[in-house]
Amino acid sequence: MQSFPFRESCPTCRSGLFVSMPDLYPLARRLLFAMDAESAHHATLSMMRFADTLGILRGLTGAGHASNPVGASAVELMGLSFPNRVGLAAGLDKTGSAVHAFGELGFGHVEIGTITPRPQPGNEKPRLFRLKEHEAIINRMGFNNPGIEGMLENLAHSRKDFNGVLGINIGKNFDTPNEEAIRDYLICFEGVYAAADYVTANLSSPNTKGLRDLQNAETCGDLIRQLQAKRVELQAAQGGKYVPIVIKIAPDLSDEAVIALAGVFNETGIDGVITTNTTIEREAVAGHSLAGEAGGLSGAPLTTKSTAVLRLLRQEMNATIPIIGSGGVMSADDAKAKFDAGAALVQVYTGLVYKGPRLVTEIAGLPGKQLTANS
Ligand SMILES: Cc1cc2nc3c(=O)[nH]c(=O)nc-3n(C[C@H](O)[C@H](O)[C@H](O)COP(=O)(O)O)c2cc1C
Repeated sequence: MQSFPFRESCPTCRSGLFVSMPDLYPLARRLLFAMDAESAHHATLSMMRFADTLGILRGLTGAGHASNPVGASAVELMGLSFPNRVGLAAGLDKTGSAVHAFGELGFGHVEIGTITPRPQPGNEKPRLFRLKEHEAIINRMGFNNPGIEGMLENLAHSRKDFNGVLGINIGKNFDTPNEEAIRDYLICFEGVYAAADYVTANLSSPNTKGLRDLQNAETCGDLIRQLQAKRVELQAAQGGKYVPIVIKIAPDLSDEAVIALAGVFNETGIDGVITTNTTIEREAVAGHSLAGEAGGLSGAPLTTKSTAVLRLLRQEMNATIPIIGSGGVMSADDAKAKFDAGAALVQVYTGLVYKGPRLVTEIAGLPGKQLTANS
């Protein structure tokens, strides 16, 4: 066991930051796992924001110069400069209230949301479950979020001095019928355009009835084209600012459906794709007492399935369209497997819960070639 944190000069900037810290996360995790999952989630965010306000979050988590560790090079993608290749997946900071704090953990990009046009409370509790034996989570949160206005108010404080890339993930309200879903995405897109570095249209949450049906090639193509047309208007109105559009898909699509979507992505020239969201499959956790809970399964049982979708999409889609790999990144090796399968960036959610912030630094520090949209 390492001794108590000590202060020493950082070899890169000589700023005297805490650069050598024991990993406090196993202790924090024991305390957090004694609480129910949703209370632990809120407690973590509150503690992070508090430590960030005091300016000690980076030191406490040992992130040091995580967003720019030795060996990490910035990644130029979609016209944006990502300080490193690891980001926070959507759903952890649904309200956009801890963006700077997550930047302090070393994330090169932070994706907030999913937000919907109007605020909504989400599904009834309990709706979040840990399957510890599998390093997994099942959630059926149902897009609990403060709506566009509430999220923009939070961002006004939380993103101050954040130097990474900010993604905003958008969806539809639970009571908007699917025939009107595209309108919700257009409302969100317009509402967040000025604030976002990129926008992700989430078509893949299993917890909003009918949402995944929007992944059929025809509707998805229609949605992308309407968003692109809206962007022409917004770009002209907002001083030429171009906001890349990213689509997030499910791991439960058949190969044929992935191939059909790849065709749509090629034809429309979408800016990027995230593979994948959570799975509704339970094979990998069969027999667990919580396996029957409805919702999306994330974490270790999702890794292989999600990476397989990434690999197939990479084969079928133009090399100029980058893929962000999300789904079961629990270690630097899992991240490497996603990079090897063709991901330009990765995102983490469940891995952060089980492994703590050191995971971010480890992935950010992975040696990587300089990736561009053409690589
Ligand atoms: C509690 C929870 C809430 C989530 N909420 C969202 C969400 O609002 N929007 C979204 O696109 N993905 C959401 N996700 C999916 C994650 O962004 C991620 O794609 C998925 O969990 C797979 O990554 P992981 O195995 O690293 O967790 C959520 C995941 C969890 C565990």
